[in-house]
Amino acid sequence: RQNERESLLIVLNFAKTFFRETLQTTDEGKSIGLSYFRERGFTNPTIDAFELGYTLDKWDSLLQEGLRRGYSRDLLEKAGLVLNKENATGGDNKVFDRFRGRVMFPIHNVSGRVIAFGARILKVDKTQPKYLNSPETVVYHKSQVLYGIFQAKQAIRLEDVCYLTEGYTDVISLHQAGIKNVVASSGTSLTTEQIRLIARFTPNVTILYDGDAAGIKAALRGLDMVLEEGLNLRLLLLPDGEDPDSYVHKVGADAFKEYVRNQAKDFIDFKAARWLTEAGDDPLKRAEGISDVCASITKIPDPLKRQTLSQRVAQVFHVSEQTVISEINRLLRKQQ
Ligand code: CTP
Ligand code: MN
Ligand code: MN
Ligand code: MN
Ligand code: MN
Repeated sequence: RQNERESLLIVLNFAKTFFRETLQTTDEGKSIGLSYFRERGFTNPTIDAFELGYTLDKWDSLLQEGLRRGYSRDLLEKAGLVLNKENATGGDNKVFDRFRGRVMFPIHNVSGRVIAFGARILKVDKTQPKYLNSPETVVYHKSQVLYGIFQAKQAIRLEDVCYLTEGYTDVISLHQAGIKNVVASSGTSLTTEQIRLIARFTPNVTILYDGDAAGIKAALRGLDMVLEEGLNLRLLLLPDGEDPDSYVHKVGADAFKEYVRNQAKDFIDFKAARWLTEAGDDPLKRAEGISDVCASITKIPDPLKRQTLSQRVAQVFHVSEQTVISEINRLLRKQQ
């Protein structure tokens, strides 16, 4: 078992190196892959820090090089790097590279070893997914991984807060802008294991999700999960149509930091602002809002924190603290 893990890590490291060389030294890699990263504003140090690469638009470049180096088809397949289509029709080439003609984002574990890849097509169209990701393997359990954690962990400790974003390029662009305490849940909705991984480095999380409907939905779901793990939470949605990557390129590092400082709200203000806008003078809507915020408070394991936060809810909604406390207790009883 231990042996298999190590073999997979070795072949994944080989693939990473091969993809980097393909990006840096082949004509196709340079003219397509590197140009793409340049257009996105990624500098060489950034490309190196995240070990970005490129895969040729060819069926078997990694497979052939892997076999030449003595890695078995079986191992390449177990690592999620090649596909084996037993019943493929037409041609005898049943084994082929999973990633072709894409820019490559290696996914590192906490100690910096490559465990998987995310792979982006250069031009988005409807015929194939924008990102292809490695399948689950012996070394890659996507629900347990946070993209960028290796590059971010020191900064997370130092800053004592972890910025949680949606995507690979959000992590990379913020890192390049000098904001290095950033990770992404990338392609999976946030899990408890991912939150516990953050908690190893800091008790403070700030969610920075895309300013679209999907981002709002994900933030509201992530909110309760982060509270359940006993972490402190702030949230910020980027302006509609922006994500941290596009926004930091638009306004620059200083303005981005300023924006986060001014606009990130704690979960009570985040939820209350949405409810109060919607409710206006409607007392029933306000009641619904109070109950919704109280529901999130019931997720917090520490009774003392629940108590002090009740005071905040009462202030924000202009009701008595007793009203809030009895609503929280009612919800807690219902959950038992
Ligand atoms: N994702 C995925 N598969 C897709 C689309 C998205 O795995 N087909 C994951 C990726 O990890 C992506 C993240 O979800 O980084 C967020 O998606 P999205 O906001 O659509 O992509 P961006 O990260 O903004 O990518 P880009 O800027 O390259 O378009
Ligand atoms: Mn395992
Ligand atoms: Mn998005
Ligand atoms: Mn983006
Ligand atoms: Mn995005």
